[in-house]
Amino acid sequence: MSGHGTPIPMTSRRSGPLKGEAHVPGDKSISHRSIILGAMAVGETRITGLLEGEDVLDTAKAMRAFGADVTREDDGTWSVHGVGVGGFQEPDQVIDCGNSGTGVRLIMGSAATTPIAVTYTGDASLNSRPMKRVTDPLALFGTHAVGRDGGRLPMTLVGAVNPTPVRYTVPVPSAQVKSAVLLAGLNAPGQTVVIEKEATRDHTERMLQGFGAELSVEETDEGKVITLQGQPELKPQTIIVPRDPSSAAFPVCAAIITPGSDVLVPNIGLNPTRAGLFTTLQEMNADLTFENMREEGGEPVADLRARFSPNLKGISVPPARAASMIDEYPVLSVVAAFAEGVTDMQGVKELRVKESDRIDAMAKGLRAAGVTVDEGPDWWKVTGLGHDNVPGGVTVASVLDHRIAMSFLVMGMATRDPITVDDGSPIATSFPIFERLMAGLGAQVVRSNSTIN
Ligand code: S3P
Repeated sequence: MSGHGTPIPMTSRRSGPLKGEAHVPGDKSISHRSIILGAMAVGETRITGLLEGEDVLDTAKAMRAFGADVTREDDGTWSVHGVGVGGFQEPDQVIDCGNSGTGVRLIMGSAATTPIAVTYTGDASLNSRPMKRVTDPLALFGTHAVGRDGGRLPMTLVGAVNPTPVRYTVPVPSAQVKSAVLLAGLNAPGQTVVIEKEATRDHTERMLQGFGAELSVEETDEGKVITLQGQPELKPQTIIVPRDPSSAAFPVCAAIITPGSDVLVPNIGLNPTRAGLFTTLQEMNADLTFENMREEGGEPVADLRARFSPNLKGISVPPARAASMIDEYPVLSVVAAFAEGVTDMQGVKELRVKESDRIDAMAKGLRAAGVTVDEGPDWWKVTGLGHDNVPGGVTVASVLDHRIAMSFLVMGMATRDPITVDDGSPIATSFPIFERLMAGLGAQVVRSNSTIN
């Protein structure tokens, strides 16, 4: 859980060239879902490549509190002995999801239709994030929620005794909300239907099918209509977690802005609902190639090669692409600072309710580092300075947000003067090997007053 310990200031300075292979950790979204669905299946699910970041470890701890047996073997394989749909026991402790919105929202859904009372909490970041977007649809199943003002954690959810299936149109583009409703629908009799106007990451749908649930997806004029037949017996799976495209974004973008770089990032999940950043970077003239395209475990995978790109240009990122790169806007804004011209990002209101208000956090740091940023409620524009002209030379706040911390550390690799983030500790939520991996490529990222060991 981030935010509970001592802050770790970290500094990044002009580095490079960055060279070599970047083996980034497993996909965070798929890791959470593997543990949760494993806990809801009957029998043993085995998972390799799981992201062992704080967010996912908190989800594993929660599933143990619900009665599943979740263990890590010496070779890094995770074993989950599930208790079956509807089999969760009432935890005798508060469920602390740390920094993780995905963790808490998916877990709330998974327990919402079992008659148990569960109290959830998190760190200062998570306890300030909106939960009504999940508790409103869960109430339709018969779940009761009592939380703090504004629907914030800590919050207790009492699961429905006789859940009724629901038909729900998700009002915001959110895979977490969609997934919470589908997971709740697992223990409701009959059909739960979720309608999505804007497509978001579809790992839950793919994985539910993999675990043997009856789930269909239809593209209609209303949007994507997902129909789930309730009360299946989920069959345990062997899961290979692909590496996380959202983590790959950091070494990829670092290579693109750092002169002389050539970095290979192997085995990256390229599910089309996740790959928007890479299309955007190519449109900006980034030298990015996909090698060895293949399918693994039901997800498209490739090796990404990123090279220094001296002729980056600003572009307009279409709003329709937002959901497929929602976690990548912070690091995209860094690349935009090194491009010629304006990068215009529209339709991104959701960025304001992530681990931090990401438009605000990035705008403040970018401006302090000498970059012009304009912003509105659901848009922002970064005016690039070209590849050798970004000043830097500042300390910025990471505001308990791993992606803000990593984005500014990537930026410091190519600014004229170093960039310090006041607290790099949140990086451990999603990318615990970030410092070591970047140092292995030749980056100079150090904890204040020390070097990396
Ligand atoms: C996630 C969904 C997205 C994303 C988050 C992971 C998921 O959140 O930002 O990092 O695994 O379902 P929203 O559902 O709030 O868009």
